[in-house]
This record gives sequence, C-alpha cells and structure tokens, in this order.
Amino acid sequence: MTKVLQFINFALTLGPRLQPATFCPRQRKSSTSLAGMALVLFVFSIAGGAGSANASPEAKALLQEKACGGCHFIPGVEDAYGDAGPSLKGMKTRKRLLGGRLKNTPENMKAWLKDPASVKPGTLMPNLGITNEDADILIEYFKKI
Ligand code: HEC
Repeated sequence: MTKVLQFINFALTLGPRLQPATFCPRQRKSSTSLAGMALVLFVFSIAGGAGSANASPEAKALLQEKACGGCHFIPGVEDAYGDAGPSLKGMKTRKRLLGGRLKNTPENMKAWLKDPASVKPGTLMPNLGITNEDADILIEYFKKI
C-alpha cells in the first residue's frame, strides 16, 4: 500500500510538469494527454491490485469473529495485536510452521486451523470450530500477508 501511495505522490509531482505541454501544438498535446491517460490507468491498476490483495472482507470478518487477533498480530485486521501466539505477518513467505516442526502447506495449515491439538498436543491455540470452508478462506488470506 505504501508503494501505491508513493507512486500516487510521484504522479502528483509529475502532474504539474506535464501541464505546460497543454500550451504546445496539437500533436504534442495529444501525446501528452495520452501519456497522462496511461499514467492514470496505471495508477488505477496498481491501486486496484493492491486493493483486492488487501481487502478480503470475508477473511477479515472471520478472523475477527473467531478473535484470532486476541492471540496474534494479524496485518490488515483491526485490533489484532495479541502476542500469546506468533505474529502472522509474513505468512506468505513462511516455509515452516510451529517453530519448524511442520511444513507450511495448505494441507498442514488446514489440519492445524481445524484442530490445533491434533497437530501439536498441548498447544495453547484452542480449537475454534474452523470448518473446511473457513480454513480455505484463511489460507487464501495468509497468501497475502
Ligand atoms: C488463545 C490464543 C490463540 C488464539 C485465539 C488463536 N491462536 Fe493461533 N496460535 C496460538 C499459539 C500459542 C500458537 C503457537 C503454536 C504452538 O507452537 O503451540 C499459534 C499458532 C498459529 C499459527 C501458526 C503460525 C506459525 O508460524 O507457526 C497460525 C497460522 C495460527 N495460529 C492461526 C490462528 C487463527 C487463524 C486463529 C483464529 C481462528 C488463531 N490462530 C487463534 C494461539 C492462539
């Protein structure tokens, strides 16, 4: 998101520099407005991309409903600053889970989310009644954070 903001900032500072071309001959003007148009489309395409990557309202609602944030820091989820469990920031690049004992695959993640104690007996993470569908939604979200 900061990248997008940086780019919009860059586009805004570039804007005035493109302005004088408005007073130039026809040919120049049309190519400038074309470039301007391309710029606007480009900004929208990244903003749109980042938006869809960050939005995931279903996943966020689920993470809030299950109060996962009471124990985890979860990027993009309001009031998710818990520290009883590991931060979930960087899930998309995490190769292993649970301090290295488990490979971070969708299957392993599903098993963990649905019944943590069956994967690691004695874990502090409770069974929160996560269904297969819930797990799929969460796994999709973890690919983005
Ligand atoms: C009561 C606290 C608590 C709640 C609530 C909780 N967790 Fe956890 N979670 C933990 C703990 C503690 C661990 C570390 C597991 C361990 O090593 O025993 C963990 C581990 C994880 C991991 C593995 C992270 C890693 O890199 O190893 C994921 C993913 C996870 N939790 C997701 C969730 C989700 C999603 C929810 C909500 C549905 C949730 N947790 C709710 C305490 C909690």
